[in-house]
Amino acid sequence: MKPALIVHGGARDIPDEAVEACTSGCQRALAAGWSILSKGGQALDAIEAAIVVLEDDPVFDAGYGSHLNLDGRVECDAIVMDGRTLGAGAVSALQRVKNPIRVARAILENCPHMMLVGEGAERFAIQHGIPLCDPEGLISQAERAAWLKCRKDKHAAAHHRGHEQGTVGAVALDKDGNLFAATSTGGTCCKLPGRVGDSPLIGCGCYADSEAGGVSCTGYGEAIMKIVMAKTAVDLLRQSAICADSPAGASCEASTAKVAAREAVHLLSKRAHGTGGLILLDRHGNPGFAFSTPRMAYGYVALDGNFVTGV
Ligand code: GLY
Repeated sequence: MKPALIVHGGARDIPDEAVEACTSGCQRALAAGWSILSKGGQALDAIEAAIVVLEDDPVFDAGYGSHLNLDGRVECDAIVMDGRTLGAGAVSALQRVKNPIRVARAILENCPHMMLVGEGAERFAIQHGIPLCDPEGLISQAERAAWLKCRKDKHAAAHHRGHEQGTVGAVALDKDGNLFAATSTGGTCCKLPGRVGDSPLIGCGCYADSEAGGVSCTGYGEAIMKIVMAKTAVDLLRQSAICADSPAGASCEASTAKVAAREAVHLLSKRAHGTGGLILLDRHGNPGFAFSTPRMAYGYVALDGNFVTGV
């Protein structure tokens, strides 16, 4: 099977001055994941490598440089899902982990539960060789400055444009047909401590099923949860897959990935009055993406092996 990879760095009103950094972050994430997939490596390793690059880049709202909560602290959520088994590993409200996706992976591989939060998740991280960091080390100067301004003007000023939410994600398919999807986020700016968004919730911010496809979402979590957006998109892919498998159905598979992405984002605005976006791969590795925000940072590997990025 031909490997495939798609990533995103969040759907939001990305300001002009951040476009270059978002593009280069997506390119570096693709390079990290593709260096594994193109040599015959595993989708799980590729997806972790891609997400780590995005978490480490302060232009994105995940890991280092995440938006701060009302108390001025970083609080991260992440998930990774295996399309073959439908198993997932998810974490929420991490305050002392540099790369939350690594803990999500450790849960997927080593835990009888699918989701751990807060102190329990951090204890699990230590037990599985993932060190904790100083919470201050996750705070970028830009986010500290934004948080200080938010305290004064309640998000009303121009500085807050494009700063409401973020999120990063990736979907990967390897040569053996293994399909994984992952999402990681610092959540919304000035969220209440303990708030959990869509990102780490199976079916909301992420879903993968090898029979249909894999999805990572971005946008306003409280709306995305209402329509279980990632699972909704996978269900749209499944309908097309069933159609294509039927004797007369070969033609309906064309553009399936693009249509499913578009329909799910359309439902988000129609039914939940929210904005956001998503990336996906269908079961064959065809990429699709859509967003209703002014911009979304994304990248995928084209059939000829070239990286396609956009903001
Ligand atoms: N989509 C990210 C969040 O709402 O937390």
